[in-house]
Amino acid sequence: MSERKIGIIMNGVTGRMGMNQHLMNAIAGIRRDGGVALADGTRLVPDPILVGRDAERLEGVARRAGVDKWSTDLDVVLSDAAYPVYFDAVTTAARVANVHRAIAAGKHIYCEKPTAENFADALSLYTAAKQKGVKHGVVADKLWAPGMFKLRQLVQSGFFGKVLMVRIEGCYWVFEGDLQPPQRPSWNYRKADGGGMILDMMPHYFYMLEAMNGRPLDIVCHADTLVKKRWDERGKPYAADADDSLMAISRLEGGAMAQIMSSWCVRVRTEDIIVMQVDGTDGSAVAGLAHCWTQRREATPKGQWSLDVAEPVDYYRDWQKIPETAPYKNAFRTQWELFLKHVVEGGEFPWNLRAAAAGVQYAEASTASWRDRRWIDLPAVPA
Ligand SMILES: NC(=O)c1ccc[n+]([C@@H]2O[C@H](COP(=O)([O-])OP(=O)(O)OC[C@H]3O[C@@H](n4cnc5c(N)ncnc54)[C@H](O)[C@@H]3O)[C@@H](O)[C@H]2O)c1
Repeated sequence: MSERKIGIIMNGVTGRMGMNQHLMNAIAGIRRDGGVALADGTRLVPDPILVGRDAERLEGVARRAGVDKWSTDLDVVLSDAAYPVYFDAVTTAARVANVHRAIAAGKHIYCEKPTAENFADALSLYTAAKQKGVKHGVVADKLWAPGMFKLRQLVQSGFFGKVLMVRIEGCYWVFEGDLQPPQRPSWNYRKADGGGMILDMMPHYFYMLEAMNGRPLDIVCHADTLVKKRWDERGKPYAADADDSLMAISRLEGGAMAQIMSSWCVRVRTEDIIVMQVDGTDGSAVAGLAHCWTQRREATPKGQWSLDVAEPVDYYRDWQKIPETAPYKNAFRTQWELFLKHVVEGGEFPWNLRAAAAGVQYAEASTASWRDRRWIDLPAVPA
C-alpha cells in the first residue's frame, strides 16, 4: 500500500478547539490510524507543522500530539511549499488577516467558524480564495455529530414529507468562573474581543437549517447579556458585555418555520446540549448530538388537553430511536478526512468559505434585527 504525505500548517492549536478537536482528535487520530484512504488505495497521511506565538506552549502541545515540527514564524512557514494546506483555529478576531495571508501564499484553506466578525470580511475571504484558485473548507462539525447525521439521512430519504416546523435549542450553563472554572475562554464574553452567542452559534444554526433543505430566507432576533459578571482564566473578575442568550425566528426556503433558542445561561433538561426537532407532514424527528428519535404520522398519539386530570399520555413513549449502524466517530475528524480527500482528489466540498459567509451574514443580520427591532431579509450569497 503506497503512502502520500500532505503538509498542513496548523495555527491556533494551543487553544481549546485547535488542540482538543483538530489536533488531537482529528489530525493525530488520522496519523495514528495510518492516514485517510484515497480512491486509488493510497493512504494520505497528514504532516503537520504547528504555528503559534508561544514557543514553550507549542513545544509542549507538539510533544503530546506526537508532532515534531512547530514554529512561531507564520510568514516563514507560509513560504514553504512543503505545506500546501493552512488551517486556522485562532480567536475569531484574528482569523481574517491570517487567512488572507495564507490565500495570498497560495495555500488551500481549512478553518474554524465564524470565518470573520462581519459579512464583508467573510465574503472577502471567499472572493480571494476563488480568485487565487485555492480549495477551501470551513468547519461545520454539527453535521457529522451522529444524531444530526441521522437527521440529515431522514431528510435525504424523504421521511418528513413536507417540512413544516424546525426547532433548535442550544442551551447549557457556562460557569461564571468563581465557584467552578469556566468551560469556555473569557474572550467569548467580551464584545471587543469577538465574543457573543450570536457570532459564535448562528453560523452553526445556519448550516443546520440549510441541511434540512431549508436555507433561512430572513430573520428576527432578540438577544441579551444575562450574566454580566464573570471570572477569567486567571480568576480575575470582568464585566461580560457580549450577548450570551438569543431567541430567533426564520422562514425557510420550502415554506417551513424555524425557531432558535440558544443560551449559556440555561440548565439542561433535554436530550442533549443541542437538540433539533423537525416536524413534517409524514413524520417528525428529534436529534441531539449523539442520538435521533422518530415518530411517523401513523404513530402520532392524540393529545388530551384536559385541565381536570393528569395527562394520561406519555409523550416520550411513541418515539423510535434510530439504531447505531456504525461506530461513533469524532465529527471534526470526519470533516477533516472529507476535506483532505477534496484537496487531493477534487470533487464537491460544499462547506466552504462561501457557505461560511452565509453563516456570518446570518449572525450579522441577527445582531441588526436585535438592534433595530425588525425582520431582516437574507439574500443568497452569490457563487
Ligand atoms: N466548531 C465549533 O464547535 C467551535 C466551538 C468553539 C469555538 N469555535 C471557534 O474556534 C475558534 C477558537 O476558539 P477556542 O474556543 O478554541 O478559543 P481559545 O481562546 O481556546 O483558543 C484561541 C487560540 O488562538 C490563539 N490566539 C489568540 N489571539 C491570537 C492572535 N491575536 N493571533 C494569533 N493567535 C491568537 C491562542 O493562542 C489560542 O491558540 C473561534 O473562532 C471559535 O469561534 C468553534
